[in-house]
Amino acid sequence: MRSALGHWNTGLGVYLAACLAFAAHAQEAKPSAEAKPSAEAKPNIVIIGTGGTIAGAGASSVNTAAYQAAVVPVDKVIAAVPEVKNIANVRGEQIFQIGSESFNNQRLLQLGKRVSELLKQKDVDGVVITHGTDTLEETAYFLNLTLKSTKPVVVVGSMRPGTALGADGALNLYAAVVVAASKEAVGKGTLVVLNDEIHTGRDVTKTNTFKTETFRSPYGPLGYIVEGRVLLYRLPARPHTVQTEFDIDQIKALPEVHVAYAYGDMSRTAYDGFVKAGVKAIIHAGTGNGSVSEFIVPVLKEVRSKGIHVVRASRTGSGVVIRNGEQPDDKYDWLVVDDQNPQKARILMALLLTRTNDSKELQKLFWKY
Ligand code: DGL
Repeated sequence: MRSALGHWNTGLGVYLAACLAFAAHAQEAKPSAEAKPSAEAKPNIVIIGTGGTIAGAGASSVNTAAYQAAVVPVDKVIAAVPEVKNIANVRGEQIFQIGSESFNNQRLLQLGKRVSELLKQKDVDGVVITHGTDTLEETAYFLNLTLKSTKPVVVVGSMRPGTALGADGALNLYAAVVVAASKEAVGKGTLVVLNDEIHTGRDVTKTNTFKTETFRSPYGPLGYIVEGRVLLYRLPARPHTVQTEFDIDQIKALPEVHVAYAYGDMSRTAYDGFVKAGVKAIIHAGTGNGSVSEFIVPVLKEVRSKGIHVVRASRTGSGVVIRNGEQPDDKYDWLVVDDQNPQKARILMALLLTRTNDSKELQKLFWKY
């Protein structure tokens, strides 16, 4: 993210400042003598770096929201948290160095396939993925549905770069490694760890542009991570990982599914553009309970008549969309989400279309996952 102040140190200057800041912390925070690594063999955790703010750097320590994301290599991000060595044998792997707003389907598949490969290895006990927070929830939901392993996978990010006062990335990364190395996280699906909380990739969503407590789940976190302890109080209720019919290793490409954001004066332009682009489904991010304005009902009926699925979701951010509530879905052969927000509905619909095109089956699967 470019500095909002406009004037900007060169990327190199920022990068060097970030490395110095990370190195200084790494120097100070050598694991204390008391925290001797335990005698028994420690789990092997691979930390895959994709970019984001957790790998970001600001021009000064007071740049908490105006900084450059995805500039610090994953090995330097790890070196800034030497405490992780007390928990696990860790090694870094840089798969991307991007802002997560650029996580397209191709990158999602590439990441998923690499994680799947690592989880098959006997010398890998868990994976942590450092990720930008903008689309972190989409990646976590996708992995939660498609990875075929019970080994822990934890997606982690930060809201402030490591160069900032009150930076949250180091503790988030430490917590993510603790969770990934824990027996409690086995078989719980893909998890998201930030701000001392453990969330299921299914429910969590980013709710604020700059606050460190931005990640919320409508039903609350699964638990906490505090003082290196994993405290779980709830379990995921919907099928995930080994319980689903989706297998990342078998998916070559994701069908094109896009989201149209609705509002009072919505025009048909977005829908026409998606149809022209050859989408297989359109997620209608409707007002309220997935409402469709009177001008757009005929447009969506026309979309469906072309064999493209219409899925009613809600722009409200939580709640369920009731089938045949705001619109006669049975009559129009439209679908409704369960409680998935529009961006997660897009991920799920793309996966569902790799399995079936039948409306009744698709609707059942929305309510299953
Ligand atoms: N460019 C945004 C991203 O990579 C920065 C936000 C962040 O990582 O917190 O998602």
